[in-house]
Amino acid sequence: MFTLRPARETDRAALYRICLETGASGQDATHLYADPLILGHVYAGPYLTYALDFAFVLEDKGSGEVTGYVLGVPDTAAFEATLDREWWPPLRELYPDPVGIPRTDRTPDQRIAHLIHHPPRVPQDVLSGYPAHLHIDLLPAAQGGGQGRALMTTLLDALREAGVAGVHLGVGENNTRAQGFYRHLGFQELGRAPGSVTFGLPLT
Ligand code: ACO
Repeated sequence: MFTLRPARETDRAALYRICLETGASGQDATHLYADPLILGHVYAGPYLTYALDFAFVLEDKGSGEVTGYVLGVPDTAAFEATLDREWWPPLRELYPDPVGIPRTDRTPDQRIAHLIHHPPRVPQDVLSGYPAHLHIDLLPAAQGGGQGRALMTTLLDALREAGVAGVHLGVGENNTRAQGFYRHLGFQELGRAPGSVTFGLPLT
């Protein structure tokens, strides 16, 4: 039914679409965003551009469509620095900083624009033990059949082979299904912030 393969540049549009269609705590976020690309610019695009060796996709054998991905980076601090230099500046021209609009009045697009202008930093105590991070999203038709585990195993093996000590991830606090999946795979909760939970897994 599915083939798992390394991602390539021509997958970019599919990755952006999957990112949007799973972007509301794992559910379709298409209706929430005026700009269908804004989520992908943050959570999919830069991984394909700067960490292609750690990007894998699931392809439906019948249709040839990409139906899921896992995107990782081995060194989050270096990735953040690269994005500051190269990725965010052109996006800041496209999406104005919603400065002056109270947080509670911001639209979903404006909340993402805020992240583009003020990307959050992963705390040093997380980075020291878990320098890598990842995102994984499967469309509904690909969920629940072992493909999420297969994608994770492929990425975690690639990170281990690169000598990475550990991997962390952030998940929405309402996304209890994904949280159960991560716990089942051995991730442990590292901390909570309003709206999100951080998990970590040692790799050595
Ligand atoms: N609680 C306990 N165990 C679970 C749960 C759960 N909620 N979900 C899955 N599992 C177990 C399965 O039983 C299975 O166990 P086994 O391999 O020991 O038999 C194992 O986890 C693997 O399950 P898969 O079928 O591979 O899971 P799936 O393919 O559905 O992938 C995922 C999980 C990635 C969460 C998928 O459902 C998905 O993409 N959801 C929508 C998008 C999403 O929420 N992404 C996470 C965003 S957060 C981030 O990217 C950091």
